[in-house]
Amino acid sequence: MKKMVNLYYELYGSGSPLVLIHGFPLDHTIWLPLVPLLQGSALLILPDLRGHGSSPVPRGPYSMHLLAEDILRMLDTLRIDRAVLAGHSMGGYIALDFVHSFPDRLAGMAIVSSQAFADSSERRQKRYETALEVSKNGMRNLAEAMAQQLSSRPELKSYLVNLLLRAKPMGVSGALKGMAEREDASGWLKDIKVPVVLIYGLKDSLIPCEKTRAMLAGLQKGFEVEIPEAEHMPMLETPQQVAEAFRKLMLLSF
Ligand code: MLT
Repeated sequence: MKKMVNLYYELYGSGSPLVLIHGFPLDHTIWLPLVPLLQGSALLILPDLRGHGSSPVPRGPYSMHLLAEDILRMLDTLRIDRAVLAGHSMGGYIALDFVHSFPDRLAGMAIVSSQAFADSSERRQKRYETALEVSKNGMRNLAEAMAQQLSSRPELKSYLVNLLLRAKPMGVSGALKGMAEREDASGWLKDIKVPVVLIYGLKDSLIPCEKTRAMLAGLQKGFEVEIPEAEHMPMLETPQQVAEAFRKLMLLSF
């Protein structure tokens, strides 16, 4: 039986709703640099996904659809009919499932450092190996290297390493298996009726910017914001540019 969970979330500001969905295996705090920049013009909703941050950690796998259902349930609890969803990396996979499954609940979408393709068989295999490693040894052996892949900026290192060290093995392995098994979403793009912004850093070493860019051709109302100096974490590395892109998206969406 599918276990329902109530997500932990934080609310900031007021205005049209903007849900900020973090990536793997992070939590809502990655979005905090955007709060002072956007809270005057939007209601910011920052959830922790199941298995992450302060949300419950049930046994996985966490399919992208299950994680999208958690977001839907949160919107129902908040009595929000339509929102803009911004998904970072794994959060982007979830946003894509959400727009495919619940199109009427979406006013617009931001895909941040993410892409629509399914995993290659090598990537899938690697995820299962990582899930096993984390279940045995926790994040100890991985945190430092993974932090470096997210962003090589020295000023972000201790924040990222500590965030990764706090990740719970059961949540990490649930999300890894869910990502490994996710569907290819590239065929869904043409049916998305709402505005979509693709935001990506040219220095992203985790999801090559070509993969994010490849989505543009499939979208009816897509536009892109390329950030030359950003890696995989533009909301931490270049928050002003990300906030500007979100502002533009919100104006087009409501
Ligand atoms: C993420 O940052 O959410 C993940 O690294 C994405 C992925 O592994 O595909």
